[in-house]
Amino acid sequence: MTFEQRYYHYRSLINDYLGDFVRETKPRSLYQPIRYVLRGGGKRIRPVLLLLSCEAAGGKRNNALHAGAGIEILHNFTLVHDDIMDNADARRGRPTVHKKWDTNVAILVGDELLALAFRALLRTPSRRMHEITKVFTEGVVEVCEGQAYDKEFERQDTVSVNDYLLMIRKKTGTLVAVATELGALVADADAKTARALRSYGEHVGRAFQVQDDLLDIVADEKTFGKTIGGDLQEGKKTFLYLEALRRARGKNRQQLLAVARNGGVSRRRVEEFRRIYHETGAIDAARRQIARDIEQAKHELHRLSASDARAMLAWFTDMLMHRTY
Ligand code: IPE
Ligand code: IPE
Ligand code: MG
Ligand code: MG
Ligand code: MG
Repeated sequence: MTFEQRYYHYRSLINDYLGDFVRETKPRSLYQPIRYVLRGGGKRIRPVLLLLSCEAAGGKRNNALHAGAGIEILHNFTLVHDDIMDNADARRGRPTVHKKWDTNVAILVGDELLALAFRALLRTPSRRMHEITKVFTEGVVEVCEGQAYDKEFERQDTVSVNDYLLMIRKKTGTLVAVATELGALVADADAKTARALRSYGEHVGRAFQVQDDLLDIVADEKTFGKTIGGDLQEGKKTFLYLEALRRARGKNRQQLLAVARNGGVSRRRVEEFRRIYHETGAIDAARRQIARDIEQAKHELHRLSASDARAMLAWFTDMLMHRTY
């Protein structure tokens, strides 16, 4: 099996798990949208990283499936609420839950998904369940803090690149790092291995969010499955925005400052900002930042003993850098 085939295989293990995880059907207003979310695709990168981390730490993949499903369900909970907070119309190429149903439905669906995430996690066969649950729980707390910063920064005109890096570490890096650390814990790994995998996940997570900010501007809308320029329309302080602002002079700078003042730009003006992001070198800066984190992530992997799973983690890390959605 090539690494690519193995990725598809692991992804389908997770899809199968999520496909029949929820047995309840009523109330329909709750379980219809829950099925819509859990069967809605997605790259499944967090559970795949969790399974591979478990194997790289010497554990059995099957023991990690419950935690893998748990982290994916938790991620889906954050997406449903994130889409309300970001006014997003599309996700994974389909209408978001609050658009297809309504905001009240989406709030409750998110709440239930959070509980379902713990339901899956708690099925993990491990003598280290206390530690596992603690890492997972603290992860939820950090994501909420990251999401709060993300919203605060929309209204704040003095956000530095450092503030941004803290915000994305919390809102995105955390779940990826929780995934890789949980893989180690399910494998009953020693502290050094768990630390290396956690740190690997933090770097991957950071690269992943900068990449997400970049794709918001350079991706193809059909492939990406989300509205292009959505961050600009919402006035988000993304990596591109902050880098462009740091570099821009004259008219470009005035235009960028107006985005923050007006709380975003209209859809038809996204193209103008794409040009500014290119001209100021913000696009190239994002690519360099991603490459740096990817290299650091792979460096962390050297702390683990060599294995097939470790080699696949390195391959997967590179693949993430070239993703188009
Ligand atoms: C989207 O996550 C939210 C971010 C943290 C950028 P993914 O890009 O992993 O979304 P799916 O699960 O593949 O749809
Ligand atoms: C994702 O940030 C962070 C979380 C969902 C916690 P974004 O708001 O950039 O994610 P997308 O672009 O909507 O997927
Ligand atoms: Mg968001
Ligand atoms: Mg969003
Ligand atoms: Mg985004």
